[in-house]
Amino acid sequence: MAVLGCGYWGINHVRVLSELPQARIQVVCDTRPERLDEVGRRFPTIRLTTQLEEALNTPDVDAVVISTPATTHYALALRCLNAGKHVLVEKPISKTVLEAEDLTRRAEARGLVLMVGHTFLYNPAVRTIKDYIQRGEVGRVYFVYARRTNMGPIRHDVNALWDLAPHDISIFNYLLGGKPEWVSAVGAKVLRNGREDVGFISLGYPSNVVGHIQVSWADAYKVREVVVVGSDRRIVFNDFHPVERVRVFEKGVAPVEEATSFDEYQLRIRDGDIVSPAIETSEPLKNQCLHFVECVRDGKRPLTDGWAGRDVVQVMEAIDRSVERRGAPLEVAHEIQPAQEKPYVAPRGKVIDKRINTVMP
Ligand SMILES: NC(=O)c1ccc[n+]([C@@H]2O[C@H](COP(=O)([O-])OP(=O)(O)OC[C@H]3O[C@@H](n4cnc5c(N)ncnc54)[C@H](O)[C@@H]3O)[C@@H](O)[C@H]2O)c1
Repeated sequence: MAVLGCGYWGINHVRVLSELPQARIQVVCDTRPERLDEVGRRFPTIRLTTQLEEALNTPDVDAVVISTPATTHYALALRCLNAGKHVLVEKPISKTVLEAEDLTRRAEARGLVLMVGHTFLYNPAVRTIKDYIQRGEVGRVYFVYARRTNMGPIRHDVNALWDLAPHDISIFNYLLGGKPEWVSAVGAKVLRNGREDVGFISLGYPSNVVGHIQVSWADAYKVREVVVVGSDRRIVFNDFHPVERVRVFEKGVAPVEEATSFDEYQLRIRDGDIVSPAIETSEPLKNQCLHFVECVRDGKRPLTDGWAGRDVVQVMEAIDRSVERRGAPLEVAHEIQPAQEKPYVAPRGKVIDKRINTVMP
């Protein structure tokens, strides 16, 4: 394997992959030599380069992990797929739906695995919540909300919404089994660095399930929390809790079904314990990398494939449009049939006819 980008997150990929007996890292590529020095100190046997072509031409590289800034994902993933490599690209898969679909179709056409690093779907805590919902123990899901706040770290290519909200959108889509129908979002540039550093996002999922996500780089209170509220239970995932990362409140409120008139309308209040289920202690990034390796080896479709990544980007595009219009509620675009699509203009001026997946000069 090759790893592209070994900054804050990429070096974790290098560590995790070098611990997996099923994989071997042949080469790490970063455009910053000082990052390669750090990799060289910690992993002295790995070949290092600042040149993408050198990484792709290194013998025995079947698959590439891309952990570079979001705005570089599309171009790098495209080059890797064109070189016949399987790709695990960090979230978000790309900055536009057209780019995400282009990568996904290319990977499919060439029989390559394309996976997106939506790490929380490989987090045993999130899997536990999904199990509760699937077993019907939450009852009817009413709403979901998430908070992801801290003081930075500030990115220089995307705003706080693009940096943080893809985590929660991927979690919500997974827990609720689909993407939202509409969004409404506001953002603010309180740190005045030219990008939104605070965002409040409302999402409307099918069956009237509403969601809310609060993200910030400018909040001195560090929170990583996802909450699911249903008629029978409320489940809280607190990623920072040292022991009880998931707490299940066996409490809920629901209308009494038999009521026939407003006068008879009553609420059924269910009261019970607060339990903290045992959660497997495996590292989410390791689970994610193992899943990628297994998909490459066995030719399986990843849980977080290109289409799942595309769904997240589709929501983010709608969020961008809503932020521009100060929170106007907007439909998340429906699937466009290939026959109705306009030709996609690739960043370097080439026209790609998406129906036949070829690049034309
Ligand atoms: N899944 C998660 O939980 C999670 C957590 C953190 C970050 N991320 C994602 O990981 C990615 C990287 O984040 P980070 O915090 O490590 O950023 P970072 O800025 O610390 O590191 C990015 C690295 O990529 C290198 N780079 C840039 N362009 C390159 C190129 N063309 N070729 C090779 N290297 C290049 C930079 O020199 C830098 O060292 C982002 O997409 C981010 O959204 C995901």
